[in-house]
Amino acid sequence: MVFGHRGMSTRAPENTLAAFDLIVQDGIPGIELDIHQCATGELVVAHDDTLSRTAGVDLKIRETSLSAIREHEVGSWFDPQFTGEKVPTLAEVFELLGGKVVYDIEVKHYGIYWGPPVPGGTEATLEALIRHHSLTDKCIVSSFDPLVLKRFAQLARDIPTALIYSNSRKVPVTVRRGRSRLFCRPEILKPYHADVTERFVRRQKARGRQVIPWTVAEPEEARRLSAAGVDGLISRVPDLIQSVLA
Ligand code: G3P
Ligand code: MG
Repeated sequence: MVFGHRGMSTRAPENTLAAFDLIVQDGIPGIELDIHQCATGELVVAHDDTLSRTAGVDLKIRETSLSAIREHEVGSWFDPQFTGEKVPTLAEVFELLGGKVVYDIEVKHYGIYWGPPVPGGTEATLEALIRHHSLTDKCIVSSFDPLVLKRFAQLARDIPTALIYSNSRKVPVTVRRGRSRLFCRPEILKPYHADVTERFVRRQKARGRQVIPWTVAEPEEARRLSAAGVDGLISRVPDLIQSVLA
């Protein structure tokens, strides 16, 4: 199962409807996308927590209303032909693609919050949106933050969660080696691809967990991971990786 990282992000601006549309056109079965909750409560699709890189304005998504976010365009930084692309809401992505793909929805996080799900908060809004679009069997909810996953699982046992992590010493200790799986008990592990061995995959499968590494660009690495038995791959070049594995 191949997932396009931020949509088809080498041929269109990442996390835009244009990038997601290409995924369907190319027959890729899955998309990975990143979400934040903006100041007016909607879930918007963007990787960074500000619009600096993609729109050239230093607005924090969390502190900005949806209408103010939409005043800016996030396509021209990638290529002038995409001038005018807006930050989509997750609802718009669901409306555009419906049940045609599997969604790996990465919830970006802010600081540490140990409390339960908040009505109208990110996890509750996400759960309601997935149910509203009848996409419970088409969504995976991912995060580096085990607290997000724990809260989401409290709301929705029927939608799988996935813990993203790396073994690198460069990342904060809280996201290293996936140790927090013991706390949030995800159905899926998303390790950095280079950290994945055949033995690791076998052990996780024996425990009933799936493994979906991120983000694979090299055909040789995709073949290695596929032979190791992973359940999916996230890639910036899903078209290439899909053809290699086919
Ligand atoms: O979902 C895995 C991957 O997307 C995590 O890294 O920074 O691209 O969201 P990032
Ligand atoms: Mg991501």
